[in-house]
Amino acid sequence: MEQLKQVLMEAAREAGKIIHHYFDGTFSIENKDSINNLVTEVDKHSETKIIEVIKNYYPGHSIISEEVGELIQDSDYQWIIDPIDGTVNFAHGIPICCVSIGLKHKDELLLGAVYNPMMNELFFAEKGKGAFLNDRPIRVSDKKDFATACLVTGFPYKWPKTYEHPIKVFERFVLEGLPVRRLGSAAIDLCWVACGRFDGFWEYNLNSWDVAAGYLIVQEAGGRITNFDGNPYSVFDKETLATNGHIHEDMLQLIRNK
Ligand code: IPD
Ligand code: CA
Ligand code: CA
Repeated sequence: MEQLKQVLMEAAREAGKIIHHYFDGTFSIENKDSINNLVTEVDKHSETKIIEVIKNYYPGHSIISEEVGELIQDSDYQWIIDPIDGTVNFAHGIPICCVSIGLKHKDELLLGAVYNPMMNELFFAEKGKGAFLNDRPIRVSDKKDFATACLVTGFPYKWPKTYEHPIKVFERFVLEGLPVRRLGSAAIDLCWVACGRFDGFWEYNLNSWDVAAGYLIVQEAGGRITNFDGNPYSVFDKETLATNGHIHEDMLQLIRNK
C-alpha cells in the first residue's frame, strides 16, 4: 500500500505542477460534445504525465481517464483520473480547479487524492485510515440544523428530458432560503464537504473521474454519500448526494420533492 500511495502522490503533485505552471497563462482550448464543455492542452498534458507516472510503476494496472478513456488491462486495480476537474474555471483563470485521482481494487476504493495547486490544498484519503488536508486530519461538519446549512451543487451541460431539470431542484433549495454555492469542480465540492466548509453537495450526471477520489475522502472524513434514493453509492452512479450525515434525509426530501 505504501508504494501505491507514493505513486498516487507523485502523480497528483506532478500534475499539480503542470496545472499551476499554465494557470492564467496561454494555452489552446477546444470544445468537446457541447460548446461549453471544454478541454485545454493542459488537461492533456496533465493526463499524459499522470499516466506516465502510474505506468512507470504499474504497467499492468487498468486506467480510466477523462480524455483518453479506458485503458483496460487484466488487473483488479483501476486508476480513475480527472486530469483537471474544473476545466471551465481553469480556462477562465478562476483558481478553483484540481487534479483528481482515485485507485480502486475490485469494487473497493482504496486511495484518493484531490490537489488544487493554486490554493496549495492537497486532500487525501486511504480506506479505513481517515482523510487529510495537507497531512492534517479532516472531518465533516457537525451541523444538524438543516435551516442553517451551507450547500453546493453543480449543473450538467446536458440532461435527459425524462428527468426533472436540475435547476428545478436548485430552485427548491433556494426557496427554502438556503445558501447554495456553485464552484464548478465536483471533486473540490466533495472535498469541501469532507473538511466541513460545506454541509452538503448534490449533483446529477457526474462521471466516475469527477467523484472517485472525492467519494473516498468524504467517507473517510465521516460523511455520507448515496444516490438520490438514499441507496449505497457507486462511482458509476449518475446521482450524487454527499453530506455530513446529519442533513442527509432533509436533502433527500428536497431533491425528491416528497
Ligand atoms: C466538471 C466539473 C463541474 C461539474 C461538471 C463536470 P470538468 O468537470 O466537475 O463541477 O458540474 O458536470 O463535468 O469537465 O471540469 O472535468
Ligand atoms: Ca471533471
Ligand atoms: Ca476534467
